[in-house]
Amino acid sequence: MNSNTDILFTRRSIRKYKKDHHISDELVKFIHDAAMCAPSARNRQPWHFMITRQRDKLDSLAELHPYGKMLKDATMAVLVCGDINLEDRESYIVQDCSAATQNLLLAAHGVGLGGVWLGVYPRKERIEAMREIFQYPDNIIPVSLVSLGFPDEDKPRNSNFNPKRIHLEKWNETWED
Ligand SMILES: Cc1cc2nc3c(=O)[nH]c(=O)nc-3n(C[C@H](O)[C@H](O)[C@H](O)COP(=O)(O)O)c2cc1C
Repeated sequence: MNSNTDILFTRRSIRKYKKDHHISDELVKFIHDAAMCAPSARNRQPWHFMITRQRDKLDSLAELHPYGKMLKDATMAVLVCGDINLEDRESYIVQDCSAATQNLLLAAHGVGLGGVWLGVYPRKERIEAMREIFQYPDNIIPVSLVSLGFPDEDKPRNSNFNPKRIHLEKWNETWED
């Protein structure tokens, strides 16, 4: 299409990061600005973003998250959380925070960072493990953890298009029948 939509197709999960790189406050603010532009049910915007750039915390997160070993080399991590005092329906919190997570990842990619979404919700043991590090109160539900850094791997453009998943007016009529 055009360059405005390119980041949608070139974003990939990046799990290898350049060492000793700093992510400026300007970039941190930019990606969170984008995250907070996400749609949310009833426009409640129930999200909070808990950031850590401390090496010891990133190393602990790498140990605590079963699929989070890349955090050992990450420059930063963001825990995307919802606040039940702002949105009382947990299912909306999950959807809203997921939309914010994707916006954050796309914005990060757009400014030259690489990141990967690490699932937290609904795994009780991961929710409790995150609490050990981030010490959030009981009204907070962590949904995803994002590992971020400057990419040290190249991945090809995504191409997952599957015409059979597009149903033309009726379930049995797909694009490629
Ligand atoms: C809800 C969710 C949970 C995920 N959890 C993990 C995870 O724990 N560790 C990981 O390395 N990747 C995780 N991913 C990233 C997926 O593995 C990745 O998006 C998928 O393989 C497609 O690759 P791509 O993002 O490069 O297109 C998760 C993605 C989502 C949406």
